[in-house]
Amino acid sequence: MNIAIDGPAGAGKSTIAKKLAKELGYIYVDTGAMYRAMALYFLEQGIAPEEEAAIAAAAERAEVSICYQDGQQQVLLNGENVNGRIRREEVGNMASATSIYPAVRTKLVALQQKLAKSADVIMDGRDIGTCVLPDAEVKIYLTASAYTRAKRRYDELREKGEECDLSAIQRDIEERDDRDMHRETSPLKQAEDAVLIDSSELSIDGAVAAVRAVWQERSRKAAGGAAAGEENTCR
Ligand code: DC
Repeated sequence: MNIAIDGPAGAGKSTIAKKLAKELGYIYVDTGAMYRAMALYFLEQGIAPEEEAAIAAAAERAEVSICYQDGQQQVLLNGENVNGRIRREEVGNMASATSIYPAVRTKLVALQQKLAKSADVIMDGRDIGTCVLPDAEVKIYLTASAYTRAKRRYDELREKGEECDLSAIQRDIEERDDRDMHRETSPLKQAEDAVLIDSSELSIDGAVAAVRAVWQERSRKAAGGAAAGEENTCR
């Protein structure tokens, strides 16, 4: 079974997906990290986000792959582990700006689909339920208000001792939402068969429980279907 979790930045997708993956023994695949690795490559090559032809050519040269160390996903860019370098704000914004290009998406979607064929995965991103895994048994659209998401980011940065401005963070989040939701190729949207979960008022455990409940219900249905199928073949 595959679980697809889509939603805007800061909704808690990765925190929740990681916890549930551990509990269910699934492999967690963070697709945003792949777009970030590509974006890091474009930044290092000095390419601007508007230079589509240069980005398409660079995407051909950038080999992104993932591996797991102590159960944690590591992203490799041309064989080098870049996990520690992809979390910067600049890389996230470049990933959002360059993920609009089909040349970037085609390559990464192929990698994501291959991974999902090889194991039970919980995959999070923007287009997993709509495009990467349209047949995923469980689809979740996880969201939260822009204020809640900005406040979570603000608290995270303050905890690290970084000075920051809550309204600037919220503006940044809203801009990112707008880009991710209104691009031409695979925009962020709720798949028709996805369950909407708003985490604004939920604790992490509360959100995990909500996703687990959907998974349990779908697992029961799948087991029921399989049992009915077995019965039919016996007759
Ligand atoms: O989830 P994240 O913040 O690490 O993702 C960074 C950017 O990558 C996000 O703003 C849009 C892009 N992305 C995408 O287009 N499709 C995905 N499946 C995952 C991320």
